[in-house]
Amino acid sequence: MDLALPAKDYGGVDIGRRNGNAATEVVVGKYDASHASSPAEATEASGTTTGSAENDGRPALPTEKQQQQEDLLQKNIYDLSIAQNYSQSVGAAQLLRWVTEHTQLISNPPYADWRCSLTIGSTGALEQAFRMLCEGNHNGGRGDVILTEEFSFATALETARPLGIGVSGVPMDDEGLLPKAMDEILTGWTDGRKPTVLYTVPSGQNPTGATQGEQRRREIYAVCRKHDVYIIEDEPYYFLHMPPFQKQGISEKAGNAAQQDQDIDAFVQSLPPTYLSLDLDGRVMRLDSFSKNLIPGSRLGWVTASQQMVEQYLRHAECNSQGPSGLSQLIVQKLVDETWGHDGFLRWLLHLRDEYTVRRDVLLDACNRQLGVLRCSDGNAGNDALVKWTVPRAGMFLWLQVNHAAHPDASTKSVVEIEEEIYNACIDKGVLVCRGSWFRADPSKPLPGMYFRTTYAASTEENMVKGIERFGQAIRDSFRLS
Ligand SMILES: Cc1ncc(COP(=O)(O)O)c(C=O)c1O
Repeated sequence: MDLALPAKDYGGVDIGRRNGNAATEVVVGKYDASHASSPAEATEASGTTTGSAENDGRPALPTEKQQQQEDLLQKNIYDLSIAQNYSQSVGAAQLLRWVTEHTQLISNPPYADWRCSLTIGSTGALEQAFRMLCEGNHNGGRGDVILTEEFSFATALETARPLGIGVSGVPMDDEGLLPKAMDEILTGWTDGRKPTVLYTVPSGQNPTGATQGEQRRREIYAVCRKHDVYIIEDEPYYFLHMPPFQKQGISEKAGNAAQQDQDIDAFVQSLPPTYLSLDLDGRVMRLDSFSKNLIPGSRLGWVTASQQMVEQYLRHAECNSQGPSGLSQLIVQKLVDETWGHDGFLRWLLHLRDEYTVRRDVLLDACNRQLGVLRCSDGNAGNDALVKWTVPRAGMFLWLQVNHAAHPDASTKSVVEIEEEIYNACIDKGVLVCRGSWFRADPSKPLPGMYFRTTYAASTEENMVKGIERFGQAIRDSFRLS
């Protein structure tokens, strides 16, 4: 598939296109939009045309236009001397161009005046976005409330609270936030100003691992339109969408990875639409990050939104972070733009997706063997499974639900007390799991169940299996199962 990137106005920023002409339409094979010099352009830019009858066979001197292009080409090289200096908050021109092209390839927002800006990662970008979009309750302020999934990324919750911004959790199912529940919350809102911002993690949500399918995304977007809610789409796990779990397929899959590597088109097409790609109103700010697919320590990501919003974001960044580190940008730009190009980056993401699929399947296999056999022994729950989970379709988290009602002390101890007991037992046995209650959007509401978050992000396969064994033993002990 040849991909045409229409010329884009980058808001007056020199976006460092290496063919030296930002206004040229760039049409390059596959996804590689960054290495954009056609042989003709290269010859023209370098001024090395062969001789002709008019100049007696001697090489022609470059024309003024050719010289200008050559100068521009030189200027557009991002190097250490530039990266060491102060720069614009929007980010280095070359990397800004690359993320803008990437966004166009993946989301292609359906309106003209969208923009990107580099960020210091999604956490910092989210803090800025909250400050831009909400008024806290400090000094008699309104005390806006944002909506989010009922279990949400703990750092996001802790970012909102000190700003005096309230958080209201929307009930979820296996596919994440429930649009009907969100509609009902907004329709029946009586507690001050109705929320105007939704913070959502649509793919491989942290902590539940839930992934919104296309239909779910469209329904949520429709509810946001109905109630005029602005969407912050936080998508660090977007490219970690995985195929279904196959119990028998762990080792085979690893062997097939090379084959899958070839199929970037199918990979990109298999991804659900981003909110940005559905955004007819300019009501979405998307947060992308290099943290989960490249280098967390780069502290680098980007926002995409309408020009108006990005403008405000930048004014804020100028007196806040002053934009991302030049050294980080240099390293990432050399890799993703100059070395890989878009094709290579997508190939890397596909490889990463395959690696995570293998890890996820190892963890799921261990859960099936160690936890799947545990049954509720109390009269009400009968012989039901004690621990349940949904196979994550994206991301790096597995969310385990333990039936607290089947606990022998359920009538005398709260969910949080039993959760703490199991958590401590896990530590004693040498495995760390995260307690579900840590992720509650609204701690004043009762917990809807007892959950533990596990991850297949970093441990070895051997340690994951060991970890689940230990977690299973902690559950057995707590529930006094033989
Ligand atoms: C949902 C979510 N958003 C953002 C982040 C962090 O992103 P960054 O490293 O870009 O700040 C994480 C990391 O755990 C996350 O789970």
